[in-house]
Amino acid sequence: MTDDQPKMELPPRPELFDFHGISLTHYFTDTWERVQNFKARPDDILIATYPKAGTTWVSYILDLLYFGQTAPDRLTSMPIYTRVPFLEIRHKLALDSGIDLVENLPTSPRIIKTHLPVQLIPKSFWEQTCKIVYVARNAKDNVVSFFHFDRMDFIEPDPGDWKSYLHKFMDGKVIYGSWYDHVNGWWKKKETYSNLHYMFYEDITEDGARELDKLCSFLGLSPSLEEKKQIIDEVQFDNMKQNDMLNYSSFPNMDFTISKFMRKGKVGDWKNHFTVAQNEEFDEDYKRKMKDPTLQFRTEI
Ligand code: A3P
Repeated sequence: MTDDQPKMELPPRPELFDFHGISLTHYFTDTWERVQNFKARPDDILIATYPKAGTTWVSYILDLLYFGQTAPDRLTSMPIYTRVPFLEIRHKLALDSGIDLVENLPTSPRIIKTHLPVQLIPKSFWEQTCKIVYVARNAKDNVVSFFHFDRMDFIEPDPGDWKSYLHKFMDGKVIYGSWYDHVNGWWKKKETYSNLHYMFYEDITEDGARELDKLCSFLGLSPSLEEKKQIIDEVQFDNMKQNDMLNYSSFPNMDFTISKFMRKGKVGDWKNHFTVAQNEEFDEDYKRKMKDPTLQFRTEI
């Protein structure tokens, strides 16, 4: 939204409620029946994440891989949230339902975004053995990013202050519930579902080219070296931040004077937010919840 556009009247912030065991608001449950009955196609690609784990980043990478060469116009004319629709969202301010957007996508494969925990994924994705890309981010940077997002996005519940927000996150009382359950649930799914590629935000930050190669090998794509170089360049944080098709600047429910959607894009920003005491408490609680030694996150690189 530009400064000269009048801000539209925003509805009050929604309340969280328990939905099949996770915290959600009505914006993510209003179309539930349609979401549950969604008919996935075998070539659909699902990007699943806990909010603020790098969804837009990986959505853009996938979009460039599939359509960067063949449909470059859409990169400059369609915001990312219409190219890679958010399956379960419905709100009338910026777009109607994610499911309508998915069903009206003219291109294939359809690249679809969701924040649902593994147990709530519509069953047709499993039946069609769709490729799924899961992106996870370390809990400390994830909660910081989520806090700033909730401050600026008025369709999120009121985050309150940082101190109370951190506890809400630890208790799973934020949208999409427990980060701990989300990342673990999807990690476990890899054991029984081989069409799942689990990525880490920190790895992409560390070596985007390496992660792009792994992703291409999972997707069965072999872009040229030149194309891969172009993609890596395109998806740099500063480029994405400037790009109005990616930075959500057309979303009326976000107040960019509070925080940007492309805020910092760093590993380790949590150190600017956690006090020493908060860090100790968080680490103690983390140890109790994260028992699987095979799932390790890096909070710095
Ligand atoms: P920060 O708030 O820490 O800056 P999502 O797309 O899942 O909502 O995640 C948003 C987070 O990913 C934000 O984190 C955003 O800045 C970060 N992000 C988006 N694109 C990025 C990129 N190209 N490089 C690094 N971080 C990126």
